[in-house]
Amino acid sequence: MPEYSGRVQADGDDPATPKGPESGPSFPPGDERSLTLLVNGTPRVVTVSPWVSLLDTLREHLDLTGTKKGCDHGQCGACTVLVNGRRINSCLALTVMHDGSEITTVEGLAADTLHPLQEAFIACDAFQCGYCTPGQLCSAVGLLQEGRAQTRDEIKELMSGNLCRCGAYTNIVDAILKVKGSPA
Ligand code: FES
Ligand code: FES
Repeated sequence: MPEYSGRVQADGDDPATPKGPESGPSFPPGDERSLTLLVNGTPRVVTVSPWVSLLDTLREHLDLTGTKKGCDHGQCGACTVLVNGRRINSCLALTVMHDGSEITTVEGLAADTLHPLQEAFIACDAFQCGYCTPGQLCSAVGLLQEGRAQTRDEIKELMSGNLCRCGAYTNIVDAILKVKGSPA
């Protein structure tokens, strides 16, 4: 299986183009490594083979199935999570490259109340089937933290790595604008 780098959409990468291979330590076949991820504020120790993606670690090892697998090839954004505050496609990130990283998944967005973006997605009817929604939410949180998107067109451009088969794009942008305090 090829190894791809964790792609950070915030850098303006073409969201449809996988990067790789990720440079890093080499491992003998069958080797596994124990490492610690700080997931949604909690240290989690996992033991994984070097080729296991962060997406599969979250879903299969940590039972955090809110993060969705769509294409598994860096083309849909369903797997978007925040790593050290930056949004990435977790299907393209090798878990072993993120020992000690802070990971935020959709399960970690809400505290005692929903995250403002979650509230806005509900208020703006920004989903239908909901499959893309965890990735849209994490990507939108990253987008707002980046502070680069000021207009509707800029939001559309910088959210273009997150596909929605239901076509809820207009309402997703409305929700992001609502949290930004900008007119829709
Ligand atoms: S599942 Fe990762 S981009 Fe589609
Ligand atoms: S709400 Fe169905 S894919 Fe986006």
